[in-house]
Formats: sequence, structure tokens, C-alpha cells
Amino acid sequence: MEVVILGSVDDVDRTVADVVESVVRAGPAVLGLATGSTPVGAYTELARRHREQDLSFARCTAFLLDEYIGISTESEQSYFTFIRDNFVDLVDLDGASVFSPDGEAADIGAEARRFDSAIADAGGVDVQILGIGSDGHLGFNEPGSSLRSRTRVKTLTEQTRRDNARFFATPDDVPHHVLTQGLGTICEARHLVLIATGAAKADAVAAAVEGPLSAFCPASAIQWHPHVSVVLDESAASKLKLADYYRYAYEQKPSWQSL
Ligand code: F6R
Repeated sequence: MEVVILGSVDDVDRTVADVVESVVRAGPAVLGLATGSTPVGAYTELARRHREQDLSFARCTAFLLDEYIGISTESEQSYFTFIRDNFVDLVDLDGASVFSPDGEAADIGAEARRFDSAIADAGGVDVQILGIGSDGHLGFNEPGSSLRSRTRVKTLTEQTRRDNARFFATPDDVPHHVLTQGLGTICEARHLVLIATGAAKADAVAAAVEGPLSAFCPASAIQWHPHVSVVLDESAASKLKLADYYRYAYEQKPSWQSL
């Protein structure tokens, strides 16, 4: 696990975009896309590189982490719409190659299994962008989630519903349930890139990176993974005990070694 602490949110966005760009330029890539506010700057930077530097996503496939139950894909509040508006429509990624779990499927259990199979059939995710919830969730694997879980229904905590109320007309409109990739599913991606910015994420980041591996902090599941980059601004890193060591290790990083 490599922890990268950067001076500004712009630096975070550029660094994450660098990782995605190198995978995309290397050949047909399978991208794992998080929604929520945190990765939007990186998506905007990738869209700029698409416009100005010929970065093409035409050969990419993308899978989303999660979707609300009972919200149609086409609805304004769906995560599918979010990623379409904030990334897919800004680049040359074919919308037909972007997949999200169907939160309106008649048989949600079958849909969850189908989604996991679709990721496997695509060859697995090359690079998975992740945000983190203030309660330590990854995807929508809330505290108590099995560390080896597969895609399934989860009940959102009240804290997560409050955090996400900004995307809805009223807090009561935030659904209680989601279909989310499990921690086991997420950890099958070849490279995890966890992004966090702002002081509100500092406790969750410290628990995920330096706390015990525990279902109490689902994001701590990244500690199992052989290739994780945790990209933070100073505020999100402010509760890390080993922050000085992470900065030193990043400064000493050999020039031939990328994230
Ligand atoms: C979104 C997702 C969530 C968010 C997390 C942080 O697809 O899976 O885990 O990454 O809730 O959300 P923001 O970035 O809005 O703080």
C-alpha cells in the first residue's frame, strides 16, 4: 500500500489522472469508476487530456461500484447518470460500454450475480477508483460488511444518507438500500486507487490505512490488496500517524517506479 500525500486537491486530481492515463494508453482497459464528489476533479482532468492531448477512452470498458435500489438508471439521481454527466459524455467512452448494477431489477439477487460475472467476463478491472465514506465505507459496504463480500444489497447508514442528501431534493428522498460491489469484488481489481480530500475524511482514512483490518472499517480491506495507492490531500492525511514516513517514501520513490 502506497500512501501519497499531496499539497492540493489539484495535485490529487492530476496524480489520479496520471494513473488512469497510463493504463488507458497501454491498451484496451477496464476501468472501475467511483461516483460521489471526490473523483470528479480527476474525471475533469481526464476529460481535459482527452480534449487537448488525444487521450482516447474508445477502447475502454467501465464498471460502476454501486447504484441505488429503486432508482432507474435514467433518473437524475442515479449513479449511472452521475458518471455519464461527469465523465462519459465528456470523453469518447462509448456509453454502451459502461455498466452499473441495475437497482430496479426484478430479481436483485440475480442482478448482483450477473454484475459480478460481467466484471469477470470483461477480464476484471485494471484500475479501480475509490472514494471513502466518512463512516469508512468502500463502495457502499457499510460498517459490518464482510471483507470478502460479493455484489449484493446493503442498507445505508443514517450517516451515509445524510452525507448523500445533497444530491436529492430532501433528505428523506435518499434511498435506504443500494446494490454495491462487495469488498471481495472490489479487491479483485488489479490496482486500487483510493482518493480522499478534506478533513471530514481524516478519521476514516486513518482507520482504513492504519487501523486494524476489520469489518468495522470496511475500507481497511484495502490492506489485503497487493497494489493500492491511497492519494490524499494534507487535510485528509491529517490523522495519519506515519504521515512523515509516507511523504519520505514518496520523495525517495525511484524514478522508474510509477504508482
Ligand atoms: C460512490 C461510492 C462511495 C463514495 C463515498 C464518498 O460510488 O461508492 O463509496 O465514494 O461515499 O463519497 P464522496 O466522494 O461524495 O465524499
